[in-house]
Amino acid sequence: GDHPMEHSNYLVYHGLLLPRAVHSQDSLQYAENFQVQDEDIFVVTYPKSGTTWMQEIIPLILSGGDLTPVHTIPNWDRVPWLEETRTSLVIDKMRCPRVFVTHLPYHLMPRSFFSSKAKVIYVTRNPKDVAVSSFYFHKMASFLDDPGLFDKFLNKFLSGQVLFGKWTDHVKCWRNLDLGDRILYITYEEMLQDLKGALVRFSRFLNRELTLEALEKVAEHCSFNNMKNNTMSNYSLVPEDIMDSSKSPFLRRGVSGDWKNHFSPEQEAKFSAVIKEEVKGTSFKFPWDE
Ligand code: A3P
Repeated sequence: GDHPMEHSNYLVYHGLLLPRAVHSQDSLQYAENFQVQDEDIFVVTYPKSGTTWMQEIIPLILSGGDLTPVHTIPNWDRVPWLEETRTSLVIDKMRCPRVFVTHLPYHLMPRSFFSSKAKVIYVTRNPKDVAVSSFYFHKMASFLDDPGLFDKFLNKFLSGQVLFGKWTDHVKCWRNLDLGDRILYITYEEMLQDLKGALVRFSRFLNRELTLEALEKVAEHCSFNNMKNNTMSNYSLVPEDIMDSSKSPFLRRGVSGDWKNHFSPEQEAKFSAVIKEEVKGTSFKFPWDE
């Protein structure tokens, strides 16, 4: 293409910047034409909002707490990204119900999604922490542009010159939809505060209630520290020249409020003002607003 933002590391898809390392015109076309089944489950996130965490949680709910899938299959094949190149390679091996993650905005979901009964779990995270997490991710992933100084990166984040565009656009397009009880909204912060409560909500939503014993086991396995030690989920299988965990580990801190260690008062004021303005008029409340 000849889009002004398009350059070596990124391609532009409907105005969104996507890393070429894992996306191609073919993979995006594949996603557009993907045949969604009614039993399919889509976990939708803006990048750095807890995608990897959900790639651990949902298979464990579906397996009733059996750890085999999360001990034997890397997260990217266990719950593949719909829009990424690996999906077409693993699709035939996926069992029903199939689980996918996606960062796509609502209107770019596969055409067959809209007439299906597939379920969606949408995870939102405090955008200030998303920006910090993304900043470190750009430092460690060689297939992304160096983020430069934090202040510069924040400006890019606010103007949407980052992966999958503006945070506010993503969050807004997945709200106020006509999906009824096909969609469950949760925040990263709620999951941090009460993981077992979140697991109960997911399992009810998916009609896969867990025994108390399985619930304990899944919650234990999905703690930050246990996931950090799981080679199938911590990205240590990726060669160091692609993801360099000595620069910043993929499972970096796993907390809420790390933005306070990075934002100056001026940056905080500007960031809050921009986000507030852009979500004005929408009814939703987020836990970090209080
Ligand atoms: P930090 O960089 O703030 O630590 P994604 O998977 O969407 O790319 O999001 C990555 C973020 O989720 C990282 O945030 C990562 O540490 C955090 N994360 C992954 N697994 C987690 C877990 N079990 N508990 C808490 N945070 C987790």
